[in-house]
Amino acid sequence: MQSTWPARDLLNVAIIMDGNGRWATRRGLPRSAGHRAGADAVRRVIEAAPELGIGTLTLFAFSSDNWRRPIEEVHALMWLLRAFLRSETKRFIESGARLTVIGRRDRLTARLRTEIRRVERATAGGNKLNVRVALDYSARESIVRAAARLQPGVDASVETFDRILAESLSDAPVTGGIDLLIRSGGEKRLSDFLLWECAYAELVFSDRMWPDFDRDELRSAVEEFHRRERRFGGLGVEAAAAASAGAG
Ligand code: FPP
Repeated sequence: MQSTWPARDLLNVAIIMDGNGRWATRRGLPRSAGHRAGADAVRRVIEAAPELGIGTLTLFAFSSDNWRRPIEEVHALMWLLRAFLRSETKRFIESGARLTVIGRRDRLTARLRTEIRRVERATAGGNKLNVRVALDYSARESIVRAAARLQPGVDASVETFDRILAESLSDAPVTGGIDLLIRSGGEKRLSDFLLWECAYAELVFSDRMWPDFDRDELRSAVEEFHRRERRFGGLGVEAAAAASAGAG
């Protein structure tokens, strides 16, 4: 049995799935058709993730600001999410994926909340891929809620806050910092997604609209990640070698 799961050498990847609306509009289709095609892309990336070394995949399905969209679009998205959870449970269990939902639940319908609890329970034994779906999620709100749980007078560390924040989001294992954040759809912003967890994330922006996102696009984002040198504020390999040569 693994002592930690997901194993630390597996990647912690998050995706802002943008571009469903534009994909549909360009085809003369309603925006909801773009979201439906987006759900197919979700299936593709979940299937491809383990073979690309991904241990945790967090998908931004509905932000707390998305409530401002037309009611028909909100309903279509909520319907789609419930249908997705229902239809994918078997596949999740068979592939060893564990699914949890992060974000507020009190504004979701009772039926959707029930579906979420059901799929979370049904997939709780999954140990190959940790899938987190962010629903009615706002990073700033989640940080404020977690901060309120800090014990007064206790000296809080970054590690303590990591744990408190993760525990306040879901029962899933504490996953720590995001390694790679991908945003599709050509825009380059974070949109209140995992702001704390992305402190040292590598950012990869793809011009593909989300419904066209596939295994190859995910692979190329992961390859781009592996080409980057992560320094976490320290020196890169070359600069460190030059500094120690200078010192010697
Ligand atoms: C942003 O594109 C996308 C969303 C607000 C919804 C994301 C939902 C899905 C991908 C489908 C369902 C998800 C799961 C997990 C089954 P947009 O509509 O803002 O696109 P636009 O910028 O082109 O208008």
